[in-house]
Amino acid sequence: MMTTIKLPPPQTDLAFPLMNAFALRRTRRKWLDETISEQEISNLLWAACGITRPKTKRAKSRRTVPSACNSQEIRVYVAMESGLFLYYETLHQLEEIHSEDIRQDIGTQKMMRSAPLGLVYVADFLRMKSIFFKNDEQKMFTAAADTGFISQNVYLYCAAAGLSTAILGLVNRSKLHKRMWLGEHQTIVYTQVVGRSL
Ligand SMILES: Cc1cc2nc3c(=O)[nH]c(=O)nc-3n(C[C@H](O)[C@H](O)[C@H](O)COP(=O)(O)O)c2cc1C
Repeated sequence: MMTTIKLPPPQTDLAFPLMNAFALRRTRRKWLDETISEQEISNLLWAACGITRPKTKRAKSRRTVPSACNSQEIRVYVAMESGLFLYYETLHQLEEIHSEDIRQDIGTQKMMRSAPLGLVYVADFLRMKSIFFKNDEQKMFTAAADTGFISQNVYLYCAAAGLSTAILGLVNRSKLHKRMWLGEHQTIVYTQVVGRSL
């Protein structure tokens, strides 16, 4: 049976000066051998692309990040020791994809494999229905920009929460694609590792 992890509500009133977060934001490639708590994962994923305005009869939901035509085409997958999970932001929960530990394939640099948490930003082209997306190249440009917003939110939360993080372009995408059981309409844009700072 597939596991569902119902995350605790994000601590949206957590205080940390925004300007300090900008000043402290850094790519850090070292971390303690410690797990990240469910509360931290909740905060981190909500910062990444949580819902700030639920959908109504007339309007689609809104996230903490913008996306072209509000496509919300980037899905965040979470690789942990216990398996691979997909974040469902509307329910604020994680759904298990499978129970394999795929963190060694998050990046090609050896040091990245020891990170407690791997995030994978996957573009779902089926969600890019607007007539403005004329071809796959335009979809890729958009997906890359939209991933950047998500990644930066994760960077800023990490800066505020004493976590180390690095976005990764050095990824064997075809290998990871297979290990994640993704379909043809899904493309891995970037990955990002997270751990507790030394
Ligand atoms: C799109 C992108 C891809 C990156 N890929 C990697 C990577 O594969 N491995 C890595 O160690 N750092 C990677 N980085 C991190 C950069 O090396 C880092 O942001 C840069 O050295 C500036 O450091 P700072 O983020 O601390 O300001 C990447 C950054 C970006 C924006």
